[in-house]
Amino acid sequence: MSPDTSNNDIQPNPPSTRILGIETSCDETAAAVVENGRIILSNVVASQIDLHAKFGGVFPEVASRQHIKTIYPIIDQALQDAHLILNDLDAIAVTRGPGLPGSLVVGMNSAKGLSLGSGLPLIGVSHLEGHLYSAWVNNPDAASQEEPMFPIIALIVSGGHTELVLMSDHLQYQRLGATLDDAAGEAFDKVARLLGLEYPGGPSIQNSSVNGNPNAYNFPRAWLEDSWDFSFSGLKTAVMREVRKQDPHKPLPVSDLAASFQAAVVDVLVTKTIKAAKEFNAKNILVAGGVSANQALRHSLQARAICPLHIPPIWLCTDNAAMIAAAGYYRYIRGQQDRLDMDVLPNWPISEVPAPA
Ligand code: KG4
Ligand code: ZN
Repeated sequence: MSPDTSNNDIQPNPPSTRILGIETSCDETAAAVVENGRIILSNVVASQIDLHAKFGGVFPEVASRQHIKTIYPIIDQALQDAHLILNDLDAIAVTRGPGLPGSLVVGMNSAKGLSLGSGLPLIGVSHLEGHLYSAWVNNPDAASQEEPMFPIIALIVSGGHTELVLMSDHLQYQRLGATLDDAAGEAFDKVARLLGLEYPGGPSIQNSSVNGNPNAYNFPRAWLEDSWDFSFSGLKTAVMREVRKQDPHKPLPVSDLAASFQAAVVDVLVTKTIKAAKEFNAKNILVAGGVSANQALRHSLQARAICPLHIPPIWLCTDNAAMIAAAGYYRYIRGQQDRLDMDVLPNWPISEVPAPA
């Protein structure tokens, strides 16, 4: 008798791999569960912005103490939201660096504790590659869920980093250039303070720019020809000089200064990224990190991109743990499993993040 083939067209579901991500590198305590590196089952972020705003920036001691208070409730919440328990998961991915040492240690120790208790593999992930992998996470609001295609020119722009990276494949990073002084987000934060705008500076400058003229001041652009590096300290100084030149009896033209500053940052970031995409024959451009939430940057990239552009939705641009779980997935399926004596790496350059053996 011939075998029954009537059900041949029904494929068994492919096995799902579920990773818990944990992120505490700066001032967000975050945990998330992501399936197959792409589908968010839960994504919990507790921001400490209100605690740090009165200091005008992140206060490391306050950050680590707050992480200690919230990390376990946040992890519990992420599991609850995903309707899962630890035993339903396949691995725990945690940010190993770069970041504030006292903050990184809190996430790392909690991940180690959970790994030891549950027997789940532990996977250390770079915060910077996490930002890149936010572009692989499905955005339920997007029309298309196409995966980025290699080779990719990726720009990471955050509070601590401005890096131009060539990604030739999953987990393969060649750092082409980086900032020589202030990171793009740091420049936004410092200039916001100069203009009397509240922390974090990026959203404040963006909001103030809406009513400003981006051509009111011709602020300098550091092109650093023949190099993929960036520099924003000269621009910051130019804004400071302009502020000091103003008539103290008149209100500071905050919106024009903010819009002109923002235009200068966006011009350099976009021009260099597009140039690199051409030079390295990139199939896709990827932009990630807190500053990629900036509307002027997003519009300019969309207008000037020479190949498909991937920018995560705003809620995945700033620090979160879904991106750490997503990067952890690509490491997990390549067999990475870290030891329980893994250390945090507060100054871990992306060029030194190894692909799994
Ligand atoms: O990636 P992120 O959340 O944390 C780090 O890894 O540093 O980035 C935070 C940075 C801050 O400097 C903040 O001012 C900036 O991202 N940022 C923005 C915007 N939203 C956040 N910068 C410009 N425009 C925005 N809309
Ligand atoms: Zn970040």
